[in-house]
Amino acid sequence: MTLTAPDSTTRASSAPTAADVPALPGRDLTRPELKAWVDEMATRPEAWRHLVRHGGGQRHFASLYRDSHIDVWLLCWDTTDDTGWHDHDISSGAVAVVEGAVNEANPRMGGEPVSRVVEAGRSFHFGPDHIHRMGGHIDGSVSIHAYSPPLWRMGQYSIGSNGVMRRQSVSYADELRPMDDVSVIEQYREEQAAADALAARDRA
Ligand SMILES: [Fe+2]
Repeated sequence: MTLTAPDSTTRASSAPTAADVPALPGRDLTRPELKAWVDEMATRPEAWRHLVRHGGGQRHFASLYRDSHIDVWLLCWDTTDDTGWHDHDISSGAVAVVEGAVNEANPRMGGEPVSRVVEAGRSFHFGPDHIHRMGGHIDGSVSIHAYSPPLWRMGQYSIGSNGVMRRQSVSYADELRPMDDVSVIEQYREEQAAADALAARDRA
């Protein structure tokens, strides 16, 4: 998903509390449990509808709930929105689409990505092994995402012009965005060169 630093989001101050969200088991949730949980959350628009925002040339999303076992976000999508390839480190996740439709794609070595459209009323779950990218299929789409254990780190992938894929560990609060452009690869190489030079100096 695409996140900017929480303080710069359009997050409203009235995020749901534990009393407003479906019951939780007090431990990490399994994938089916996560899916059932987001399905139930989808039926409680009073807990998230007021946080939906679109337009203004920026992504809109809101932290709905977070405790030591689950992390829940509301994501608003337009067709220009694209997370880029990423994983969720050690977290499993579930997504319920509540308005419009979103695109989900999985990378495939030596072939075109596996892509699908997930429409409102549908949901899916995935494990820590899942690599995907998501985007809006219809302007004005909305989805609810839950992760367990809570997101802390994520993997963001860049693909160079030669097709080589690299993973960069990012904070869950960093913005996810496409990293396929050469500038990202060049920046990565410069950072690696600087780190190598520093290590060589320390060894000297
Ligand atoms: Fe994701």
